[in-house]
Amino acid sequence: MKKKIIKILKKKNKEKLVCLTAYSKSVAKLLDNYCDIILVGDSLATALYGMKTTHQITTTTMINHARSVKSAVNKSLCVVDMPINSYKSIRKAKINAKKIIKETKCDAVKIENNGKNFKIIKELVKSSIPVMGHIGFTPQYFKKFKLQGIKKRDQLKLIKDAKKIEEAGAFSIVLECIAENTARKITNNLKIPTIGIGASANCDGQILVTDDMLGLSGFYPKFVKKYQKLDKIIVNSVKKYRKEVISRKFPTKKNTY
Ligand code: KIV
Repeated sequence: MKKKIIKILKKKNKEKLVCLTAYSKSVAKLLDNYCDIILVGDSLATALYGMKTTHQITTTTMINHARSVKSAVNKSLCVVDMPINSYKSIRKAKINAKKIIKETKCDAVKIENNGKNFKIIKELVKSSIPVMGHIGFTPQYFKKFKLQGIKKRDQLKLIKDAKKIEEAGAFSIVLECIAENTARKITNNLKIPTIGIGASANCDGQILVTDDMLGLSGFYPKFVKKYQKLDKIIVNSVKKYRKEVISRKFPTKKNTY
């Protein structure tokens, strides 16, 4: 097993895992010193490409962004999301996961749970491809937002699915938009770390979409804390630039060859 993954597993019950998404080299470079895991999430479909869902994103696009991210990452574990159409069968999943790892040099892939793909995780792990699971509100399989694991029956199903993902060999699981009590039970029931997004503090680590936490995406549900208002900073800078170009204050002698 990769050293970086062993380090992550060892943090369970000791130190919280810090995780963020990145889609490019410039952002990944800034995150690397401060994150355990950098995820090249398929959220780039909506956050970057303006697509309605993550369904249209292709493996090639994920590979291009993952290569860019990995080129700036030394310390963090780099995980790449597998698009929904890239793991429709065990054969397809193996071909695409191998291609992602080979062409990006990233460390692992992430697969969203649909209650039927535990065998795919098992086969990828058997082929030496580290896999991160993802349960709860998995955008590849849900159309409308709904907090998961509120009713007892749903809670039990999530706990069961998380266990199956662990047994299939995943090294960690993202818990997305899961009720606090259910997240706690899943976390306590697993040996592998849980990474929460909208799943309370009862997880072994946290992940946010970087564009959301920096105030760039315009998507701010309750679980997102905006650590910065980059949208305002950019608009103010652009306004100033516009004013200076029009008033001929820019460029000055200092900016001229
Ligand atoms: O695609 C993504 O960015 C994700 C995170 C929200 C966990 O899956």
